[in-house]
Amino acid sequence: MSPPRRPLALLPTPLQRFAGMYLKRDDLSGFGLAGAKARALEYLLGDALAHDADVLVTGGSPSSNFIGGAALAASVCGMECEVLVSGTALERAPATLHLVGCSEAKVLYTGADRAELDRLIDERAAHLRDHGRTPYAIPRGGATPVGALGFANAAEELAAQLDFDEAVVVLPVGSGASIAGLLAGRAAIAAKWQVYGVSVSRPLPEIRGEILGLVARITPEAVTDWELIDAMEAAEAADDRDVHTMLAALRADGVLFDAKYGTKALAAVARLRARADRPIVLWHTGGLPAALDLLGRAAT
Ligand SMILES: Cc1ncc(COP(=O)(O)O)c(C=O)c1O
Repeated sequence: MSPPRRPLALLPTPLQRFAGMYLKRDDLSGFGLAGAKARALEYLLGDALAHDADVLVTGGSPSSNFIGGAALAASVCGMECEVLVSGTALERAPATLHLVGCSEAKVLYTGADRAELDRLIDERAAHLRDHGRTPYAIPRGGATPVGALGFANAAEELAAQLDFDEAVVVLPVGSGASIAGLLAGRAAIAAKWQVYGVSVSRPLPEIRGEILGLVARITPEAVTDWELIDAMEAAEAADDRDVHTMLAALRADGVLFDAKYGTKALAAVARLRARADRPIVLWHTGGLPAALDLLGRAAT
């Protein structure tokens, strides 16, 4: 039986030629500004609805693209939503938080570090359950085996768009849900892709363990032919290199990338190109709210 899925995104997303490689345009997934996160949300909301949940509980940092998408998905599905946000209220909220507010989700600042979020999300869900509600708790980034199904499915979608078997596939990594799904999906269709994940927010040993843990919960197949690239330090704050990379892609091809995920993945691809002997597919995962900030910075 296939897992429940609530369609939200416009799929398949386009695959285009871009700067001598291929670009998988999940920034055009067509659901709010959720980008690739719309894929995970289709399965998470499908599961939440199948469990008769009446309130979605999730969380992230203020600039998390996932929380904006989750709040909107809950609204579209007629479900309440509570979003736990690390730290305290900012004077100038990022656009992701405006999406949460405009989706009528409740924002709860935790006053704590983002590493505490998953525990606090579970606690909040338990509290709601004690008060007669039916919550559906989703950890940061939608990193559950259910959320990862979105990218497992995307592997099949990409394979149908490529007219060659062997490829190098590169994507930015935060919580690890997307790459875990992609690796499981690649195993299911036996695609001959070398996968590179560009880790922007967690140290490699930690994120590698989390990815392998998720993959093991989705597929019994062992995963090989994948590597992580550390871009954590570079991702701390946008700098002039991000502006330069973003402007080059924008001016040459009309494609807009953000600084946390997009320009880091582009920089990694630039380094991989020298040694890649197969066509490269770069996954544009979205991040448009922050991309607008980067545009603002470049223009001043
Ligand atoms: C634009 C964008 N790209 C990539 C990622 C990383 O995806 P994952 O958390 O599944 O590793 C995120 C995570 O929020 C994101 O918002």
